[in-house]
Amino acid sequence: MGIVGLGCMGMSYAYDPGGRDDDASAAVLHRALDLGADLIDTADVYGPHTNEELVGRALADRREEAFLATKVGFVTGETRLRRDGRPEHIRAAIDASLRRLRTDHVALCQLHRVDPEVPLEETWGAMAETVKAGKARMLGLSDVTVQQIHVAQSVHPVAAVQAELSLWTRGATAELLPFTAREGIALIAYSPLGRGFLAGRFDSPDDVPDGDYRRHNPRFREENFAANLRLLEGVRTVAPRPKRRTFSPEYKLRIVAEYDAAPKNEKGAILRRERLYHSHVKEWRAARDAGALEKLVDKRTSPARPKKSAAEAENERLRRQVERLEKELARNKAALEEMGKASALLEMISEGAD
Ligand SMILES: NC(=O)c1ccc[n+]([C@@H]2O[C@H](COP(=O)([O-])OP(=O)(O)OC[C@H]3O[C@@H](n4cnc5c(N)ncnc54)[C@H](OP(=O)(O)O)[C@@H]3O)[C@@H](O)[C@H]2O)c1
Repeated sequence: MGIVGLGCMGMSYAYDPGGRDDDASAAVLHRALDLGADLIDTADVYGPHTNEELVGRALADRREEAFLATKVGFVTGETRLRRDGRPEHIRAAIDASLRRLRTDHVALCQLHRVDPEVPLEETWGAMAETVKAGKARMLGLSDVTVQQIHVAQSVHPVAAVQAELSLWTRGATAELLPFTAREGIALIAYSPLGRGFLAGRFDSPDDVPDGDYRRHNPRFREENFAANLRLLEGVRTVAPRPKRRTFSPEYKLRIVAEYDAAPKNEKGAILRRERLYHSHVKEWRAARDAGALEKLVDKRTSPARPKKSAAEAENERLRRQVERLEKELARNKAALEEMGKASALLEMISEGAD
């Protein structure tokens, strides 16, 4: 197995919903295999389910080349994720994952989170059954303590443990990493680029795309962003950000027009050809439609602007915060209206039934 793996979550879950492109993601998967990054990591809850389907489709012809890993143990509740470590759920979830992945076994089946309502021995016992049945070669845990690893080990060997580990998330280095190294358990570092933050794409919270999970992550929120950007400066001293591409206003207008005129199934190809994100087009279109053509002039090519005073910067921050709160309020009002309509409808139906 290659030392670098490919986590597929962001291809269909959590990140940049407007920028997803299954064909491009499948091409990334194939490229990863070509480069020897054969650990392919997914989970039933990513999507939910669509990520495993995507991986299953993409690997259809190259299944044997992948060290395929998935995770079970979460269910999508009405409003949020819920843990479910009951043995009957685990058994059914693994079978469903294998169907979506178009395979009869995975190399690594992981418990996404320990369910505090179910003794770990029971959950892990059900996971171990799948190894005996040939549906998984090995078992892994995710976001666990050393104590929980001991409990699982008493039932069946723990081959791997996932933990968030990057330059800005160091918790695992204290106890977990030395322990797993001693025990010969693989530690799979997730979000190694700090969910994209360390890659330097984001200069402000507004750069996080709409509907993106990171908008709710405290590290990406207005109040913490500036402090985190300062930390990033340290990273940039050892890993400078690649020179950003700049685009002329004419280019932006041309691409938006081409993208909008293209049939739905060809839009992705334009983005890939130009190496752009959906969010680029969205931003440029919004500037064009608002007649804010000055926004189309790339910040990095435009003449240096006078530095804002601290008071101006604070005003700007507050203005953006008010804008965001207003948007949230409008969304909540719309949701309340919908609920009102639905309950009126229910009343009508129940009156009719009487
Ligand atoms: N066990 C768990 O509970 C758990 C939790 C989270 C994640 N995971 C696993 O870990 C995997 C990785 O997590 P993550 O997606 O948060 O990882 P990450 O590598 O920290 O962040 C991914 C983001 O980094 C950016 N990026 C990646 N490679 C880049 C490059 N070469 N240059 C510039 N930017 C780059 C991309 O941003 P853009 O899309 O903006 O380009 C991408 O969306 C997941 O896919 C999942 O399999 C597991």
